[in-house]
Order: sequence, then C-alpha cells, then structure tokens
Amino acid sequence: MDRFKVYVTRMIPQDGIDLLRRVADVEINPEDRPLSRNELLTNVREADGVVGLLTDRIDGEFFDAAKNLKGYANYAVGFDNIDVAEATKRGIPVSNTPGVLTDATAECAWALIFASARRVVETDKVMRSGTWSGWGPLQFIGADIKGKTLGIVGAGRIGTEVALMSRGFGMKVLYTSSSGRRNGVLDSELHAQLVSFDQLLAQSDFISIHCPLTPQTRHMFDASAFSHMKKTAYLINTSRGPVIKENDLVTALRNSDIAGAGLDVYENEPDMAPGLAGLDNAVLLPHIGSATQNSRNGMATLAARNLIAMLRGQKPETPLNSELYD
Ligand code: DGY
Repeated sequence: MDRFKVYVTRMIPQDGIDLLRRVADVEINPEDRPLSRNELLTNVREADGVVGLLTDRIDGEFFDAAKNLKGYANYAVGFDNIDVAEATKRGIPVSNTPGVLTDATAECAWALIFASARRVVETDKVMRSGTWSGWGPLQFIGADIKGKTLGIVGAGRIGTEVALMSRGFGMKVLYTSSSGRRNGVLDSELHAQLVSFDQLLAQSDFISIHCPLTPQTRHMFDASAFSHMKKTAYLINTSRGPVIKENDLVTALRNSDIAGAGLDVYENEPDMAPGLAGLDNAVLLPHIGSATQNSRNGMATLAARNLIAMLRGQKPETPLNSELYD
C-alpha cells in the first residue's frame, strides 16, 4: 500500500514525528517559525494529513487547498483556529489535544497567581538593577493567597485542576459555567459555588480564565468587567488572549482599578497592547502554558496518533467532529 503523505506545519517533539513516520512520508516546515498563509496553502496541496498549530487558520480556504485531506490534527487543545463546522460539512475529521497539557497549564496559572500576588517579576528586576537598598518594612507589599477567594471562569479540565490545586491554600472557590451545569468534582471536593459571571467578578480575589475563545467569550473581560472586580483583585489568563480586551486591561491596570494581571496569552500574539509591557503590575509570559517536556511530548504523540487514526478512516482518540463516525 502507498504510504500516506503528511505535512507538519512546524517542528514538534520528535516522538510525534517518529510515530507519523511509521505510516507516512512526513514533510516538516524546516524553519522554526509559523508559515505565512501562502506557504501553508501551498505546502498542504499534496497532503493526506496535516498536523498544525494554533497559529494556522484551518478554514474553507485551507480545505480547498488541501484537496487530498483525510484528517487534520491540531497540536493544541484550544481549537478556535479551526472552522470545525466547515470541516464537518466537508466530511473532514479534525482533532485536538485535550488532557495531556492539563497539569502543565494549571501549574502555569498558579505560577502567574504567585508571581502577581508577590510581585516576583517586579522585585526580581529591582535586584538585577543593583538599586535595592536593603530590607524595608514598607517595601514591595503584596497580597495573601491563603484563605482568599478564587474565581474560575470555565471549569473544564484545566479550570478544575487549577481549583483543585488551591486545596493547600484553603481558598473559597467560585466558578462559572456556560452550560449552567454544576461541576461535580469541584462541588464535592471543594464545596465550590457555581455563580453568575457578575457574582464571580464582584467576589473573587483571584480570577483565572479557562474558557475557550468563542464569539460569546471574546472580550468578556472589558472595561465594564474590570469596574465590577475588586480593586484588590488579580486577573490570570492562560486560555486565549482575545477573551480580554487588552487595551481596557492596560487602562484598568494603569488606573489601579484592579491590583494586577498575570498573562500567558495576548489578544494579537505575538504583539501586546501598547503600554502593557511598561506596567509593573502585569506579569507577562510568552504563551508557555503547555511548555513542559512531558506535556509537549504528550501533545505530539496524541496529535500523531489522532492523525494516523484519521488517515486510516478510524475515529481519533480526541475528535472535534465525532459525529462523522456515528
Ligand atoms: C493549547 O493547547 O491550546 C495551548 O494554547 C498551547 O499548548
């Protein structure tokens, strides 16, 4: 039997490539950068299967270009880059990588909570600048975490894990749910409360965003949302940048309408809203939520297994349009 042709839009961990090479001839973007739109559309022309990234737009135009496509595997859990409805309409299976990056992303959210509350980045800069004059009773006062209220926006896999990790800090946990359904794990393990978005804004000391980016969640955090948060509250985002209206966040941080923000994702990556980089009450990471060896290997091998299944006409482990297999 002829081997499949697979295109990988940017190098991923070798374990995933090795799996793909068992069944396919694999071509990989040789440069460690996202492909331009034209490069993407040109390079996938002969592909039976594609492994792509959150920076690749997978839509009708892409499917027109990749005319032999039997499956597309996203190397990410977030899939706002994929027009799933269009893929389904065309009968093309698509998949993502949930589960394997849950702990890494939840730990990253906690890194941002600690760094924001205790001003880790700001004070690290002071040490490196050589301007620290020695211990002072009023210097660099931060916020307590223990016993405070943690608000989880979107209590899916990652949001649930972030909440569970708060156990060592005896926090009160609130969460929102777009479906209105209660989260049994959070209810039983933490006696968490399902609240409205407005209640969560008003009561939380730390708000951690874990919802997917959809038309409903785009700019969910804007000037109005910030005005309903406590002035002492911190906003943490490890989901997708456009959930926050970044210019409004800059204004809120500048005016101390909220205490701080810890961000791993941005509205227009890799750019940031003007002024954000100059703010000491913002901790800024370069979208590294899933960037641990274990997690990235897991993403690569899951994406590869998913694609191999789709190439063989089988249901992938983590499909986005499972109705194609009903
Ligand atoms: C994802 O998986 O959606 C992250 O943003 C990248 O790992």
